[in-house]
Amino acid sequence: MMDLLIPDKTHDESRQGEALMLKAEAAKNNGRKLYIESYGCAMNFSDSEIVASILAERGFETTPDYSVADVIFINTCSIRENAEQRVRNRLKEFTVAKVKNPGLVVGVLGCMAERLKSKFLEEEKLVDVVVGPDAYRDLPNLIDRVDDGQKAVNVLLSREETYADISPVRLNSNGINAFVSIMRGCDNMCSFCVVPFTRGRERSRDPKSIVAECQDLFDKGYREVTLLGQNVDSYKWKSKAEGSESDAISSVSEAETNFANLLEMVALISPDLRVRFSTSHPKDITDEVLYAINKYDNICNYIHLPVQSGNSRILDLMNRTYDREWYINRIDAIRRIIPDCAISTDVITGFCSETDEEHKDTVSMMDYVKYDFAYMFKYSERPGTLAAKRYADDIPEEVKQKRLTEIVAKQQEYSFYRMQARIGRVERVLIEGFSKKSDKDYCGRSDQNAMVIFPVGEGYKPGEYVNVLIERSTTATLIGRVV
Ligand code: 5AD
Ligand code: SF4
Repeated sequence: MMDLLIPDKTHDESRQGEALMLKAEAAKNNGRKLYIESYGCAMNFSDSEIVASILAERGFETTPDYSVADVIFINTCSIRENAEQRVRNRLKEFTVAKVKNPGLVVGVLGCMAERLKSKFLEEEKLVDVVVGPDAYRDLPNLIDRVDDGQKAVNVLLSREETYADISPVRLNSNGINAFVSIMRGCDNMCSFCVVPFTRGRERSRDPKSIVAECQDLFDKGYREVTLLGQNVDSYKWKSKAEGSESDAISSVSEAETNFANLLEMVALISPDLRVRFSTSHPKDITDEVLYAINKYDNICNYIHLPVQSGNSRILDLMNRTYDREWYINRIDAIRRIIPDCAISTDVITGFCSETDEEHKDTVSMMDYVKYDFAYMFKYSERPGTLAAKRYADDIPEEVKQKRLTEIVAKQQEYSFYRMQARIGRVERVLIEGFSKKSDKDYCGRSDQNAMVIFPVGEGYKPGEYVNVLIERSTTATLIGRVV
């Protein structure tokens, strides 16, 4: 269904008119098939659903099989060098398909498109279209241009685009969990990070369109939404609300919605709609947000709070704008305000000039927090970032790897510790489907985001909540039975 959501105030009448015309055209299937593959963060997967919607309006049908596609899009990630390498390897496979079918359109979307711009067309000759994250509305025109025998590039970044009025086509969906983008871009300028350059300035989406999208998902049977942004804690929307007539000075007052308000608005849709969110930033996460999480049972007790390093000098070089003490203060606030909250993190090892002693501070931070889960990376210098300009990437590869191996082992211990602590407890689980290994078991996640496996049984099915008594665990999974 390609329904338009409540129009965003930033979109004028003409665009609404155009959208409605496009909607009418969409009734006609143009007979062409779109295959889209996504890499990197959840935001990219969410963007691909917007792209599928924009092209569905023009009659493109999505296919899960690239060998039958007329248009192949690859939505790319630039965060580390190996992410880009993976995309280049995959592109080689697509270009083989193009040799067989010269009418095939191959496009590169997302962060690599934005980073490399038209250079991509020189490097990868068989690519036809290069489109940055803020230019997806232009895709139908760009495809037309390729059909006319030209190459097409649009990498303009925007200060306003949030695709608020576009109702995403849910790709690879189980009909239970969905991503909902609440903001775009990032203004933080962490020195290692390419995202501010590839995704542009931070802007928030109209809360009315967010709530409408979540309500629509709930009405269609979805039971969990994950609100997405690079830094959800800096979500901010100012709306002009009409003042009362007696207010002679100003008939317009400014109402501001922050992330805590938005969480509450989404939580109030239904107690049966679980609300998750990612990513929080240690410098911006407020007690108000923590109290909102604690107040509503359906806002999940799980926070992803990237630390990056446990050492204050390295955090300063990373331009994270907090130090070790500040981060610990935020962890303590979470523990105080939300009893039983799972916490996960991101860590980078071997950032410029990091000493063994400083690395030990990261290890001791892991000992302090005992994270439920962590994503851990070796520092990868990205062209154009502040760190690439200012600091030498001077930690030898073996040292980066040794430090990474050490923290991965440490995290394994803490993940297992956290899992074991759930044994004997009853977890409320939203059933997502059969477990990967067996159709005799269901899987679903607990409030704290742990994967739970339990036998299929009478009286419950995917999309429903069950209480599961946890009997044993691995480092990554809880195993139990419905009670
Ligand atoms: N090198 C290694 N890891 C990085 N990340 C971001 N940029 C880099 C980089 N240049 C990691 C951070 C971030 C996560 C999404 O990716 O830990 O939180
Ligand atoms: Fe990158 Fe930092 Fe923005 Fe996250 S907060 S996207 S790490 S610049």
